[in-house]
Amino acid sequence: MNQCQVTFLPHNRTIEVSEGDSLIRAALQAGVHINASCGGEGVCGKCRILLEEGMVTEGVSERLSQEDLENGYRLACLSRISEDVTIRVPVESAIDRSVFDKRVTPRRTARIKQMDFESLKEQGLFIPPVEKVYLELPSPDAQNNMPDVTRLIEYLKLQADEHKLELTLPVIRKLPAILREHDFKVTVTLVRQVRDDGKTQITIARARTGRTHGFETFQIT
Ligand code: FES
Repeated sequence: MNQCQVTFLPHNRTIEVSEGDSLIRAALQAGVHINASCGGEGVCGKCRILLEEGMVTEGVSERLSQEDLENGYRLACLSRISEDVTIRVPVESAIDRSVFDKRVTPRRTARIKQMDFESLKEQGLFIPPVEKVYLELPSPDAQNNMPDVTRLIEYLKLQADEHKLELTLPVIRKLPAILREHDFKVTVTLVRQVRDDGKTQITIARARTGRTHGFETFQIT
């Protein structure tokens, strides 16, 4: 049986095959990829190749228009090699169609903006769910001898504009001792719970220094 040389472009790869061999098998042997979605049945029309030099037999299908045939297109799976031939594998036959169909996903970016919570709070646009407030309460004397709980709540109302406050029973019990132990300088933690009554719960911390930072705190629950 005669041997024929088949050259594949743009790979520029040449292989020798027997006359009558299938062109798509020759491509396979040469390591040249040609799409063959239908498995070489001549149905999908995805194995189109272009004859640059020489001729093949068969290779004609209704998947190719008359113009395609006149321009030298054939289906590789149906083509038989009958002489030395140079064929070009068009890019659409070499690359999986899905690559063309793939839509480029628009790139999404997120911008992170540093929020100035202090300023938002001042504008009334942000209420922190938990907040520590340093207090220097007035000590009780003959003119000011209200109970400690009232003293704390009234002071928060007047000085920190905090309303609807409540203290848990353990805090109420320990409040007098803590206030006196720390000369009425304490840090309270306001816990703004998401509840129907919208009340803010107060816990209290010892004050070790005169600043809000550097406190060793504990919560009374
Ligand atoms: S592989 Fe489908 S038509 Fe050739």
